[in-house]
Amino acid sequence: MPTTLVKNGTIVTASDRYEADVYIDKGVITLIGKSITLGADTVVDATGLLVMPGGIDVHTHLDMPFGGTCSADDFESGTIAAAHGGTTTLIDFAIQDFGQGLFPAYDAWMARAQGKAVIDYAFHMIVRELSDQAAHDMDRMVRDEGITSFKLFMAYPGVFMVDDATIFKALRRTRENGGLICMHAENGGVIDTLVQEALRRGETAPKYHALTRPTRAEGEATGRAIALAEMAGVPIYIVHLSCADALEKVKRARDMGLPAYAETCPQYLFLSHDDYEREGFEGAKYVMSPPLRERHHQDALWTGILKNDLQVVSTDHCPFCMNEPPQKQLGRDDFSKIPNGAPGIETRLMLLWEGVRAGRVDAHRFVEIVATNPAKMFGLWPRKGTIAVGSDGDLVLWDPERELTISAKTHHMRVDYNPYEGRVLKGAPAKVLSRGELIVDEGTFVARRGRGEYVRRLAGPPLVP
Ligand code: URP
Ligand code: ZN
Ligand code: ZN
Repeated sequence: MPTTLVKNGTIVTASDRYEADVYIDKGVITLIGKSITLGADTVVDATGLLVMPGGIDVHTHLDMPFGGTCSADDFESGTIAAAHGGTTTLIDFAIQDFGQGLFPAYDAWMARAQGKAVIDYAFHMIVRELSDQAAHDMDRMVRDEGITSFKLFMAYPGVFMVDDATIFKALRRTRENGGLICMHAENGGVIDTLVQEALRRGETAPKYHALTRPTRAEGEATGRAIALAEMAGVPIYIVHLSCADALEKVKRARDMGLPAYAETCPQYLFLSHDDYEREGFEGAKYVMSPPLRERHHQDALWTGILKNDLQVVSTDHCPFCMNEPPQKQLGRDDFSKIPNGAPGIETRLMLLWEGVRAGRVDAHRFVEIVATNPAKMFGLWPRKGTIAVGSDGDLVLWDPERELTISAKTHHMRVDYNPYEGRVLKGAPAKVLSRGELIVDEGTFVARRGRGEYVRRLAGPPLVP
């Protein structure tokens, strides 16, 4: 197995900044020091670059059947796009089939990823019904397979939604097995009622997706999820938190000392309800759940990141094409049939770096929310999410001076639009290494397809404060 020496860079972790070389042997960092003179098979010059832990995206949906179609990126195209954006590990979601335990889903998602993924990957398991078999399988997932987190939905009745009793039982199960419940917190009953009423009034345009999913529905469900976790005596992680109402519930719980955690996503920090007001069917590009919110929520979320009420920024990458093929068009006459989700696996770090440039967060907090906390939250740390002797050589060599204009014409995601089309950014990966191997070099993917490895995660409480 070859050795790699990254020379002359400035290492930036969640806690430190210093100039040093990094030596990687058999995929693992074995030495960090000034002017390392050991010979290496590959020497990477990082002069003028920041050497940061590779990004960890803990919320992606690759090759996922949803809304009558399948998300447009598979594990090959999606992970190549992720790598271009500086992400070196992701956690995707396997989905339990009705009437089954969890193992068929585990096998199916392993088969989707194996031989295709170019970066390392792990899975959460979406639990749709908690049969005795599924409950038993939760324990086995945690103990034997390294799947230590489970997503439950309080929305999408008939598809994913589970009731409070199921949520409570699943939460209690994690108290025994050391897993963590991740919650899609929106009140599905309220939303479904509003959707039916809107459709009866003939309100079919994409913007009604947002208008039928009020922030209160997210706030209510977030508060309920946290209360259920408190009664079960376990931590909880709220996924894709989008608004001040929900953040307030997390903040209050944390102020009370409860182990409530949450992620937000770049779309909620950089896009807004205004995008639904675009001409014609353009708003469909932004149909996701929870929906984009009024602009003032963005400030609340940035404050949440700064004050650690939000610990992680993931993407919820779930791409559906507008026209080629016509996936979003499934809902041209009925917003409720527009497949929910948007692309973002490639742009997370570059967008968040705008937060660094604007002085909203510093580079250390940036590393923390994109890499270190995701690793600590989901049983990947210290193997991933930091730069330390013994950690995997997953590095993004960041050029703070690199400028780019986001466009579907140049991105690597297999989707025919980009929600941030035309946005000019400064700060991007120059080189990306995964387990010491150079995988992206100046915007070109240079590694072998299918080189990504499945990562078994560690059980136990989140290590994030
Ligand atoms: O709209 C979204 N978020 N699609 C992906 C599924 C989910 O709820 O995360
Ligand atoms: Zn969700
Ligand atoms: Zn999602």
